[in-house]
Amino acid sequence: MEHELQSLEAEARKCLHDLTDEGQLEEFRIRFLGRKGSFSTIMRQLGTVPAEDRPRVGQLANTIKAEIEKLFEAKKNTLDAAISGASDRQTPDLTLPGRVPAGGRLHPITQVMRETCTIFENLGFSVAEGPDVELDYYNFEALNIPAHHPARDMHDTFYISDSVLLRTHTSPMQARIMEVQQPPLRVIAPGKVYRCDSDITHTPMFHQVEGFLVDKNISFADLKGVLTVFTRKMFEKELPLRFRPSFFPFTEPSAEVDIACVMCGGSGCRVCKKTGWLEILGSGMIDPEVFKKVGYDPEVYSGFAFGLGIERIAMLKYGIDDIRLFYENDQRFLSQF
Ligand code: PHE
Repeated sequence: MEHELQSLEAEARKCLHDLTDEGQLEEFRIRFLGRKGSFSTIMRQLGTVPAEDRPRVGQLANTIKAEIEKLFEAKKNTLDAAISGASDRQTPDLTLPGRVPAGGRLHPITQVMRETCTIFENLGFSVAEGPDVELDYYNFEALNIPAHHPARDMHDTFYISDSVLLRTHTSPMQARIMEVQQPPLRVIAPGKVYRCDSDITHTPMFHQVEGFLVDKNISFADLKGVLTVFTRKMFEKELPLRFRPSFFPFTEPSAEVDIACVMCGGSGCRVCKKTGWLEILGSGMIDPEVFKKVGYDPEVYSGFAFGLGIERIAMLKYGIDDIRLFYENDQRFLSQF
């Protein structure tokens, strides 16, 4: 019996040492210390021990049981401490840096718009803004595009009434400014314009910056100079620039300006429609008819005008091949700028 008690003690010590959670601890309690546990079972057999050995064996059994109970309590305390320690770790660590709110940023179109304006402001241009809802008169009539003129077809106009529309370009600002100011003039007019048109290079609303300069002795060379400076500053390199003869009723001569397609390097891709060039603006020398309508003497004054597409420039600058990305408000796209 003494032998049995000693091996039970050894086993209990080992079990206590190995157990790692409260469940195992409870199993241990039932197996060794419970009413039907190993110690109780042995104690019940005490009656079979010879009478002279009984006190000694009984005392040994009590000592061992007390010892195991003590170890059991100690183990219980360490486990409890470990558990509350773990829950401590779940309470907030006040020394961690806080969660930073997602910062807002300027839309890529706004950035390019502002950059464009800054470049021209540094060349001495001042900024003027006009209405998106425009009179037919300023959008067309004053720009030498009378009713039924075929050039109106180019504009895919959203009409509000017979005489009111969403401006299809920023050129109405030429007439609005010249009507109320005298030369010399150096003005840019940034803003939204609207055309009923939508594909990978067109959206129904887009942005233009109109620029015009009126003074004595202004020539096409001045236009070329200003636009060359602009593209160099905007793209930070000397991109090939192409002046292509064109027609606008409010400029004569007129030219569309292309820059080499930075998407494909000029070899032709879907963005440049296989031409290797991308049109970034329309331009020309202001037509004498426009001057006459605002009361300027075309014999005394000359000037140039241009209207550039901000989305086109942003696409080239950032290598974006679908204009619609600008207006889908996808954070993953916008947060790259
Ligand atoms: N307004 C023209 C357009 O939107 C561009 C342009 C502006 C052309 C000024 C000549 C002069 O297509």
